[in-house]
Amino acid sequence: SINSHTHDKPVIGVIGGSGLYNISGLSDQQWVEVDTPWGKPSDQLLKGTLDGVSCVFLPRHGRGHVYSPTDVNYRANIAAMKKLGVTDLVSVSAVGSLKEELSPGTFVVVDQLIDRSRLRTKSFFEKGLVAHVSLADPFCPKLCQMLYEQAKQLEIKVVKGGTYLVMEGPQFSTRAESQLYRSWGASVIGMTNMPEAALAREAEICYATIAMVTDYDCWHEEHDAVSVKAVVGILKQNARHASSLVEKFIPALGKRPQGNSECQCKHALDYALITAPE
Ligand code: ADE
Repeated sequence: SINSHTHDKPVIGVIGGSGLYNISGLSDQQWVEVDTPWGKPSDQLLKGTLDGVSCVFLPRHGRGHVYSPTDVNYRANIAAMKKLGVTDLVSVSAVGSLKEELSPGTFVVVDQLIDRSRLRTKSFFEKGLVAHVSLADPFCPKLCQMLYEQAKQLEIKVVKGGTYLVMEGPQFSTRAESQLYRSWGASVIGMTNMPEAALAREAEICYATIAMVTDYDCWHEEHDAVSVKAVVGILKQNARHASSLVEKFIPALGKRPQGNSECQCKHALDYALITAPE
């Protein structure tokens, strides 16, 4: 295979959203500065090992939460992960719920995306190099299954499958928008998973998201409309669960058998490049 990295040692990447700014219990910890052709990532990246498995952590908004969802340099973040050898990438993201049964505190291992973001650069391919990768299944099914099982084992309230709607932000949605997204069948709403998922696919990195529900957005009649105060309150409980989940899935993912038949993520570019060779 031309994709020699499919035989590489697994390196587990974690991008932490609001509420997750660190991974505790890492051995050989080191914050490293990484530069990329697309500029600087949101912060230095934390390298380390957990139970012998290499991992890399990046706080999506930077330590101190300095980049808004619009301002995050998604290309630099994914490129930095790729540069450090990341093979499997898990996004941990706070979201609002668009369904009654997904109450605050629920973790959703989402399997679909609707992209309503508007102000972001969404591809590594530009300037005369054109490629169209498949996003039909934007999340790695194998990674999703494993995350779901790990969360279950920790007795976290977790749901497998769901559609994550990406809005531009930084304002939360209007009630009419919230109702519209519900009518589309979306499960949760957040501001960051696109273009992250698309870029991970272009970089041939397996990608999955743990969406942690913090609120009912603004559609729910018996709950106040989402506010930062409400989000921060439930974030603390979610952060505890997220930390224990991350510490559990890093060794589990690193030690699972690797093989070419596992998923298609690591071959996303095999038939995607459309620019004619010279
Ligand atoms: N992140 C957390 N809650 C959210 C909401 N209601 N809308 C968008 N992003 C969110």
